[in-house]
Amino acid sequence: MQKKKGLLDFQRMKKEGEKVTWLTCYEYPMALFEEQAGIDMILVGDSMGMCVYGYPGGTMPVTMDECIVHTEAVRRGAPNTFVMGDMPFLSYQTTTEEAVRNAGRFYKEAGVDAIKLEGGRRVTKVIRAIVDAGMVVCGHIGLTPQSTGQFGGYKAQGRTAESAYDVIKDARAVQEAGAQLLLLEAVTPEVGKFITEDLEIPVYGIGAGLYCDGQLLIVHDMLGIWQAFKPRFVKRYAHMAEDMVKAFQDYIREIKEGKFPEDVHCYKMIEGEAEKLAELVKKQK
Ligand code: KIV
Repeated sequence: MQKKKGLLDFQRMKKEGEKVTWLTCYEYPMALFEEQAGIDMILVGDSMGMCVYGYPGGTMPVTMDECIVHTEAVRRGAPNTFVMGDMPFLSYQTTTEEAVRNAGRFYKEAGVDAIKLEGGRRVTKVIRAIVDAGMVVCGHIGLTPQSTGQFGGYKAQGRTAESAYDVIKDARAVQEAGAQLLLLEAVTPEVGKFITEDLEIPVYGIGAGLYCDGQLLIVHDMLGIWQAFKPRFVKRYAHMAEDMVKAFQDYIREIKEGKFPEDVHCYKMIEGEAEKLAELVKKQK
């Protein structure tokens, strides 16, 4: 059984240059496998809107209740892994009171170790309030999927000096507000390196280059399950969509051809009972 890592481990790992491994997860069996593999951290991301629910609106329609149900399942599957809940759209943008209450739901109902929310300078008040209530906050800046409308789509950030400086100002503001972890999404490696070295808190990247203190990928991307599009930063470590379609096709073919189930898949009658049954049936006639 792996020893559960916590904030102190992540701070030490940053100092010692040991990378943190991080994946998303939305369900119990996948959580079992991720923990078995020895992943350091799990995010129950609102990317479930695409990966699990197939919402055309992506992450935007995802609700607190959906996040809680999936986070509970992941917690059960990975009891010895640092699990982070992801605050969905409109769970923290209205009032700080509502944000604190929703962050608290992740702790009380799903037993998380931290929560993540998107935004830099514009959410510092919310970060401060959640931290003041005793919770661990991971900031999320760069490309923030809940605001892709404002970015004009899923576009990398920090590609000009001015926009890079904006991301750096966001990073500093999030740390200043009390966040203890930071996720950088879709920024250039130069920006990733600068922020990782500039901040005291651990800085992890998804599409932010090699220099961050750790790396995150969406599990459906890295397993090759999600097929609709492949962001530049995704590396597929498996091709499970093809494997699954092939398995379904084999199943269909074997049923049609009368090859499944085989003898090994069938229950056996207790010795002598088949004959007794034949007698019984005969008598009833
Ligand atoms: O929901 C999620 O999986 C995320 C990642 C895209 C960073 O927030």
